[in-house]
Amino acid sequence: MREFNVVVLGAGGVGKSALTVRFTQDVFLENYDPTIEEEYRRLVKVDGITSQLEVLDTAGAEQFTALNEVYIKSGRGFVLVFSLTQEASLREVDNLRQQIYRIKGGSTTVPIVVVGTKSDLVNEREVQLTTISNLSQRWNLPFFETSAKKNWHVSDVFEDLVRQMRNR
Ligand code: GTP
Ligand code: MG
Repeated sequence: MREFNVVVLGAGGVGKSALTVRFTQDVFLENYDPTIEEEYRRLVKVDGITSQLEVLDTAGAEQFTALNEVYIKSGRGFVLVFSLTQEASLREVDNLRQQIYRIKGGSTTVPIVVVGTKSDLVNEREVQLTTISNLSQRWNLPFFETSAKKNWHVSDVFEDLVRQMRNR
């Protein structure tokens, strides 16, 4: 069986852990407990083929971002996370995207998925669909709107990434 390691990156509090834990353990993390570093594993079956995913949930807090370089070097695929309720968190996705391409040798074939979280918080939404559709087109990266709370489109994120990792 093939094994892939995935790194989840993004600003603090955007919902990286909630997304990761929803995917790997099917529960919703209601309380905010800032991450230092956590590793999760799960078997996933995509298009009839099972593979093992090792998912590294990282810290968004700025005092830890020096580690991002290490994570990017060792990561095979990346989930870049922002919150649909916090427009400023999009900037960190753009920074991370550029940092990944720098570290991976400017390769545009690195498996990456962009995720906008907390889609259930309709009244707190700050990022419109057109904004992120335009950006994801310009970046040439797939984009998903998710809710870890409602379990909306969470598995789609990891399935897309598995397909990318398999084919590159
Ligand atoms: P750091 O570990 O500090 O980088 O934060 P994080 O990105 O891991 O954020 P975390 O997953 O801990 O979520 C922060 C807060 O947002 C928590 O209180 C979560 O319950 C909440 N949250 C995360 N995802 C969702 C979601 O899809 N919907 C709603 N309503 N709340 C969410
Ligand atoms: Mg976290």
